[in-house]
Amino acid sequence: MAFKPAPWPRALRSQHWYGGTSRDTIYHRGWMKNQGYPHDLFDGRPVIGILNTWSDLTPCNGHLRELAEKVKAGIWEAGGFPVEVPVFSASENTFRPTAMMFRNLAAMAIEETMRAQPIDGAVLLVGCDKTTPSLLMAAASTDIPSIVVSGGPMLNGYFRGERVGSGTHLWKFSEAVKAGEMTQADFLEAEASMSRSTGSCNTMGTASTMASMAESLGMALSGNAAIPAVDSRRRVMAQLSGRRIVQMVKDDLKPSDILTRAAFENAIRTNGAIGGSTNAVVHLLALAGRVGIDLTLDDWDRLGRDVPTIVNLMPSGKYLMEEFFYAGGLPVVLRRLGEAGLLNREALTVSGGAIWDEVKDVTNWNEDVILPADRPLTGHGGIAVLRGNLAPKGAVLKPSAASEHLLVHRGRAVVFEDIDDYKARIADPDLDVDETCVLVLKNCGPRGYPGMPEVGNMGLPPKVLKKGITDMVRISDARMSGTAYGTVVLHTSPEAAAGGPLTVVQSGDMIELDVPNRRLHLDISDAELAVRLAAWAPRHEQPEGGYAWLHQAHVMGADTGADLDFLVGCRGNPVGKDAH
Ligand code: FES
Repeated sequence: MAFKPAPWPRALRSQHWYGGTSRDTIYHRGWMKNQGYPHDLFDGRPVIGILNTWSDLTPCNGHLRELAEKVKAGIWEAGGFPVEVPVFSASENTFRPTAMMFRNLAAMAIEETMRAQPIDGAVLLVGCDKTTPSLLMAAASTDIPSIVVSGGPMLNGYFRGERVGSGTHLWKFSEAVKAGEMTQADFLEAEASMSRSTGSCNTMGTASTMASMAESLGMALSGNAAIPAVDSRRRVMAQLSGRRIVQMVKDDLKPSDILTRAAFENAIRTNGAIGGSTNAVVHLLALAGRVGIDLTLDDWDRLGRDVPTIVNLMPSGKYLMEEFFYAGGLPVVLRRLGEAGLLNREALTVSGGAIWDEVKDVTNWNEDVILPADRPLTGHGGIAVLRGNLAPKGAVLKPSAASEHLLVHRGRAVVFEDIDDYKARIADPDLDVDETCVLVLKNCGPRGYPGMPEVGNMGLPPKVLKKGITDMVRISDARMSGTAYGTVVLHTSPEAAAGGPLTVVQSGDMIELDVPNRRLHLDISDAELAVRLAAWAPRHEQPEGGYAWLHQAHVMGADTGADLDFLVGCRGNPVGKDAH
C-alpha cells in the first residue's frame, strides 16, 4: 500500500522544548540563542539532528564534519533547522577488544540521545563498519524519521600498478610475507597505498556492505552506497539528503514505515548479489529485532540461496568501490534483482516512493564490474547457513569467498582454545597440521572474547602456506572481516563460551563440512558428545563492572544478531518530563 503523508502543518516534538512562552520554553530557547540563532527558527519548523560519527580516531569517518556542512545546507534550504550532534563512533580499526563489542553500546547511547533531545528527524552520518548498524538500530528503536548518509568509500589503492583493496590486501600481503613471497620492507611500502584518500574501506567489506544494506532497505537515497568519499557527488548526496529529511518529518515517514519484512528481504538478496559481508547477517538480525520483524538465519539461507553474485568486487572479485560507482552502483544491482523477480518492488524508501521507481531506468555502464546474468561470479552468492551437531543454532559461510574444492570436506580438527592459543602455536613448525586439516578456534563469540572479533579467517600455518596452499577449512564462533575471504565457517552457535558443542571439539576429531547440504558435523557419537558437554564448565570470569559486565550479562547469540536482550524492540520517542 502506498505511503500516505501526514497532514502538514502540525506540532512537532521539538515544540515541547521550543514552542510557547513558558519559563521552561524560554530556558531551552534562550540557551540555544547563545549560539546566535534568530527567534524565528523556533517557530515549529522541523529540527533535524545530524548525528555525526566523525572522530579523528575513526579515520574512515574523518571527513564527516565537512560532509555535515552540506547536510546542513540542504536542511536550511528545505526550511528545517539543522543541529549537529556528535555521537558514539565505534571505529573498526582502533577499538579494543573489538568494535563489535561496542555496537550495542553505541546504539543504546544514540537511541537515548535521539529521544532525550528536541529533534524531529535525524540524518545518520555514518561510514565505518559499526557506525551504520548502530545508528540504524537507534533510529529503529526511537522511530524518529531518519535518513542515512554514508561517508563513501576511499579511492582505489594501487601498489606497483596493481589494485590494492582495503583489508583484502592486508590479509594477502601478510600471508605472502609468511610464505616468503614478499619482503617485510615491501609490505611496509604497500601500507600507504592501501588508504589513498578519506573514506571507508574501498572493497565490498563491511562498510560498503552496510551502506548497500541501508540503501536496499530503503533508508538512504538511491545511489548513496557507492559514491567515493572525495567525489563532489558525495557532497551533493549529503545536501539532497538534508533537503529530503525535512520533508520526511513533515510527512511523518518513519523507520517503521520503511523497515518492513519486504525491505529486509530486499536487503538479504542484495547482499547475495553484491557478495556482501557476513557481518550483515548479525547487523540485520539485530536491526530486525528493533522493529519487531521476525527475521531468522533461515531467512538468510532461503532468500539468498539462488541469488547470483554479480558485483565483481574484492574480496570475492576483482574491482573496488570506485569502479562500482562508475558502473552505476547499487541501483543497477537493484534493477537486476527486480528484473529477476528477486526484489519486492513496492518496498518504500526514504524518497516516499517505491524502490523500483528509483532504479527501473538505470544503466549498467560496465559489464565487467556488474556482471551480466549469464556470467555471475557465482550462481549462489547468498550466505549459507549450516547446521548439525556442531552448530545446533546455525553457523554461516560465504560461498562466494570460499574455495569450490573445500565446500564438501572431511578433515581432522586442529583445535585452538582461544585466540592467544592460536597465536602461540600457529607458526610452530612442530604443529601437527596439513592442508587437509580443519582449523578450529573457540571462545571468540559475542561472550567469549568478549565481543565477537573478526578473527574467524585465521591465517594459515606458515608451513602450509610455504607449500603454496592458500585456503583451508576454518571453523569458529568469531566473525570475519568483510574484506576477508576463504572457506571459513563463522558465527557458530551456540558459541563456545556459552557451552555450545564447539567448546568440546578436540584435536584429532573428524569434522565434516557439506555446504551444498548445509551440514556441519562433528564425527563423534551422540553419547560421546553428551559426556563431553556434561563435563564442560565456563572458563571466563564475569567482568566485575562497567560496560564489559553489561555486555557479558546480556549479549544474545550471533544467531539472533548479538544485540543486548533488553534493547530488543522499539521504545518510541515520548518527549518525557521537563524537570527545569
Ligand atoms: Fe573503517 Fe573499513 S575499517 S570502513
